[in-house]
Amino acid sequence: MVFVKIEEQNIDALYHQEESGSGNRLPASIREWKQKAENILQKEAFEYIARGSGEEATLRSNRKAFNNWQISHRVLRNVSNRELSISLFGKRISSPLLLAPIGVQTIAHPEGELASARAAADMDIPFITSTAATYSMEEIANEMGDSPRWFQLYNSNNDRVTESMVKRAEACGYSAIVVTVDTPVLGHREFDLQNSYSPLKEGKGNGNYISDPAFCEMLEKSPRKDMKAAIQKQMELFENPSLTWEDIEKIRKYSKLPILLKGIVDPEDAKIALNYVDGLIVSNHGGRQLDHGIASLDALEKICQVIQGEIPVLFDSGIRRGTDVLKAIALGASAVLLGRPFMYGLATGGEAGVKRVIQQIQKELDVSMALSGVRSINEIDSSLLVRQR
Ligand code: FNR
Repeated sequence: MVFVKIEEQNIDALYHQEESGSGNRLPASIREWKQKAENILQKEAFEYIARGSGEEATLRSNRKAFNNWQISHRVLRNVSNRELSISLFGKRISSPLLLAPIGVQTIAHPEGELASARAAADMDIPFITSTAATYSMEEIANEMGDSPRWFQLYNSNNDRVTESMVKRAEACGYSAIVVTVDTPVLGHREFDLQNSYSPLKEGKGNGNYISDPAFCEMLEKSPRKDMKAAIQKQMELFENPSLTWEDIEKIRKYSKLPILLKGIVDPEDAKIALNYVDGLIVSNHGGRQLDHGIASLDALEKICQVIQGEIPVLFDSGIRRGTDVLKAIALGASAVLLGRPFMYGLATGGEAGVKRVIQQIQKELDVSMALSGVRSINEIDSSLLVRQR
C-alpha cells in the first residue's frame, strides 16, 4: 500500500484554489476520495469496503432516495454566523456527525481504528468503536483522551462475553452502547465470495475478543499460543440469529450507559424500541445486509413520525455530501453517521485523510446551511424540503 501524504492545511485552501496546479490538490468530493482509495488498496479490500450485498439494489437506493427531496432555500436572513454544533445525550459536539462503527479498519490502513479515532477526537465528533475492530476498545480509547466515544456491540451468542464487553466499554470511557440489530446473520456479499475474502477469518477483527477475559476463558490455549483456534471461536460467537427484545433488556442490566439500536427501518420496530432503549439509528448497514431493503432515508421519515422526538433518532447509509446531512436532519434526524467516506480517507491518508473527509462534509454542510438561509442545526426542519414528484 502506498499512502498519499496529506499536508496540514486548512480545508478552505481547497475552496480558494491555493493548491491549483500543484498536482497535490485535495479531493473535492467523496467520489474522488473513493477513487484514490481504489488506486491504493488491494482489489479485495476495496471491494469489501465499497460494495454491497446481493445485486446492490439497497446500496443504490440509499443514494437515489436523496434525489427525491429538493431544498427550497430561503433568502435575506443574515447567515453570516452559522453554528454547526449540537447537543447529544447531554454532550456538546462540534457538528451533527459521528464516525460509524466499521470493523477491520486495518484493511484500509495499518493504523486502522487508532488513526480514525484520533481524527474524530481532533474534530470533536464521537467515534463509534466496532465489536469487530482490529484494535481493542482500550487501545482505541487510549488514543482519544476525554473525547467522545461510543461502543458498538454485536451481541454475541455467549452472554458472558457480551456482558464483559459492555462492562469494559463503560470502564474505559465509552459513553453509549450501540447495539447493531440488522445482522442476525451476515448478508450475502457476492464480491467477498468471489474474492474468497474474509478479513474476520484473517484475524483482522478480533482485537476486542482476544483481549477479553470471558472470551479467553472459553479457549483451551491463549490466543497468543493458538490464534487459529481463537479466530475459529470468534466466528462461532459472532452471528446470533436467536436475538430478541429480551436480550436488549439484559444489556440494560450490564451497564448504566444509554443504549441505541442500530439497523431499525420499520416504524413498528421503532414503536417497540421506545420501551427498551434511549436512541435509534435508522440504517440498513449501508446496503451490506438485506438486499432490496428500503432506502434508509425513506425509512427515516416514517420512523421520525412515530418517535415524535421522544428519543434521538440518528441516521446512516448513503451520506456523501453536506446536503445529505441537511436533508436527513430536515426529515428528523438528530445527527448522522459517516461510514464509507471516512474509510476512503483512511485508506488514502490515514488520520489526516479521515480528518479531511470530516472537514469536507462539515464545510459542505456549512455552505448548504448558508445557501438555504439557516444559521443553526435547530433551524433545519421539514419546511426546507419539497418532495419531488
Ligand atoms: C460497516 N458497518 C458496520 N456496522 C456495524 O454496526 N458494525 C460493524 O462492524 C460494521 N462494519 C462495517 C464495515 C464496512 C467495511 C462497512 C462499509 C460498513 C456499517 C456502518 O456502520 C454503516 O451503517 C454504513 O457504513 C453506512 O453506509 P454508508 O454511508 O457507508 O454507505
